[in-house]
Parts: sequence; structure tokens; C-alpha cells
Amino acid sequence: MKREEVFNFSAGPSVLPTEVLEIAGKDILNYNGSGMSVMEMSHRSKVYLEIFESVKSKMKSALSVPESHEVLFLQGGASLQFSMIPMNLMGELGKGAADYAVTGNFANIAYKEAKKYGVINVAASSEDKNHSYIPKQSELKLNPEADYFYYCANNTIYGTEWQYVPETGSVPICCDMSSNILSKPVDVSKYGIIFAGAQKNMAPAGLTVVIIDKSLAGREMACTPLIMSYKTMIDNDSMYNTPPCWNIYILGLVLDWLEKQGGVAGMEKIKREKAKLLYDFLDESKIFKGHAEPDSRSDMNVTFRTGDEAKDEEFCKGAAAKGFLNVKGHRKVGGMRASIYNAMPKEGIEKLVEYMKEFEVKNRV
Ligand SMILES: Cc1ncc(COP(=O)(O)O)c(C=O)c1O
Repeated sequence: MKREEVFNFSAGPSVLPTEVLEIAGKDILNYNGSGMSVMEMSHRSKVYLEIFESVKSKMKSALSVPESHEVLFLQGGASLQFSMIPMNLMGELGKGAADYAVTGNFANIAYKEAKKYGVINVAASSEDKNHSYIPKQSELKLNPEADYFYYCANNTIYGTEWQYVPETGSVPICCDMSSNILSKPVDVSKYGIIFAGAQKNMAPAGLTVVIIDKSLAGREMACTPLIMSYKTMIDNDSMYNTPPCWNIYILGLVLDWLEKQGGVAGMEKIKREKAKLLYDFLDESKIFKGHAEPDSRSDMNVTFRTGDEAKDEEFCKGAAAKGFLNVKGHRKVGGMRASIYNAMPKEGIEKLVEYMKEFEVKNRV
């Protein structure tokens, strides 16, 4: 298949802007007259440090990161943060306490991981309805003495998204924004730690962006590996060891592209319009039903099903034949999932909805 014939709805790693891949392709053998690929440069060389500094500053400006916070470029995927957060924020091993909102698969993994290091309270769980909703502020059972409160802003598998930033008093908030970072403005000052694996809205897999309130660093457990200490990484400007140089470079290109879309404010408008196309159709459809409750819907991952597994399979097969790739839902939810991250053009969603309409006409009872 040609790239032009395909709309890639993959949940992650996901579609990147074609323009970004074209620039990267053009520069792949010789970056900016250096005679080297970005993949081949020392991370401490002048030419690479210029890239690094400019990407960090673009990231800070894209999300209006305040002076109190630092941007880190780490490895280990978003999953390593599931351990780094408790190890760095709960003080002595086994003595600390944290609140977790368990609203999906990755929040649940983070919760289980954190239990190894301290006393963890489930502040809320949406497991009773297969994670189809986000709990309300009034439903959060918060411990005012907790070392931190943890939640996952967008549940990639279930297609739900928090529509508010929880109010936790003086308890720092740690948030997994892997699947909605850069899709809308965020008030970074409200967070202790924001982290995101790059492979949805930012860059290829292998880079994790962490935005941390610097005052939270330096209280890690004695057993914390040096490479997992936020303080080590802040003190060494993410270069305690070799950073994921290529991925950081691609992030820079994605941030340039984002700027042309009007930055995160522009993207918020665009992603709202894109998601609305699918949700409006789901609301009127006689055969497709969305998984997420309307007030908890994600603008990044739209989950839906027909209620008949054979029909869902037929839908996915037909979709693939038409170039709509990776629309099969995760096994925990079944049905379909259209991941419509920043780089998915509106046209992809318009065409997918056309196909859904055709499928509905053919399958109406
Ligand atoms: C919301 C969320 N958090 C965490 C992860 C895990 O990320 P990684 O594979 O980078 O560890 C994912 C992966 O899809 C995710 O969607």
C-alpha cells in the first residue's frame, strides 16, 4: 500500500506528520551540512547540543512550562515512570503513602507497581463499569497526608479522558499524559509531575518526556538506581547517560509542525472538531455504540462496537481493505478503536465515518 492510500489509526506507536518524516528523511544522511546523521553524532557535540537545547526550549514554550519546572528527556518508556514516581516521591521504602485513581489499564499497572514501595490508597476506580467513565471530583477519596495523587489523563485502551484537573489541596499531582499530551493547553503549574511516552503525539517510541516541579527532586529512596533519580537527571540536564538523541530531534520537528497548527491551543480546536465527527455519528447510529460514557469521552481514542463480534470483525476487515489501518479494539474492550492523535488528518476521520455509514446501511436489520 502507498502511504497516500492509508489512514493509520494505530493507538501507539502512531502516525507522525508526513512533513516531519519528509524532513527527517531529507536530513537522514547529512544533518545541516555536518556530514553526519543525527543518529551518528555524539550527544555532547556542539551540533547535537544545539538541537537538544532548541527542542527543550520548544517543549517548554509549547506547554508554557513555568520556571519552577524542568523538562527531562528520559528512556524506559512511560512504564518506567510507574516505578520512578513512587521511588522518588514516597521517602523511605514502605513508609510513604499515595492516592491512585485507577481508571484503566495503565493506571492499574502504575498502582500495582507503586504498592511495592509504600501504602497506596485507591482514590477511585472505574473497574465496576469496565473503565467506561471518569470519576467525579466528589467521588475521589483523597488522603490529605498523601505524598502525591496519581492519575492517567487519557485512558488509551478504554477511550476515556479526564475533563478536569483534580483538586488535591497541597498534595502534588502526578499525571500520565502519554496519549493526550500536546493535544490541548495544560496548566503545568498545577502538576508535580507530568510524563508521557513519546510514541503517540510526539516522536518514535523510546523517549519519555517528564515535566517535573524541581522542588520534588532529591527525596528519592536510598535504593533508587542513579539512573532512576529525577535529581540525577535534572543535575545532568537529561545527559547522565546517552539520551535518545534521534527521538529528541524528531520531537523538535513535531513541535515545529505543531506550531504551524496554532500550537496546543490550535490543536485543541482541531482535535475537538475531529473527535466530534465520530461521536456525532456514534450518537445517531443504530448499530454502533460507543464504549465511553459521553461526559468521559476521549478526543484521542474513540472506542465503539456493534455488540456482535462477527460484525466487528467484518467491519475491521473491510476497514483494512479500504486503507483504514489498526482500527481493531484492544482485547480488554473488544470492538473497534480509532486513535485520532494530533497527526491524523481530519480527512481520515471523515472517510472513516463515511465507511461506518456504508457499513450501517448494509447491516441494518
Ligand atoms: C496512557 C499510557 N500510559 C502508559 C503506556 C505505556 O507506555 P510505554 O510502552 O512507553 O511504557 C501507554 C502505552 O500505550 C499508555 O497508553
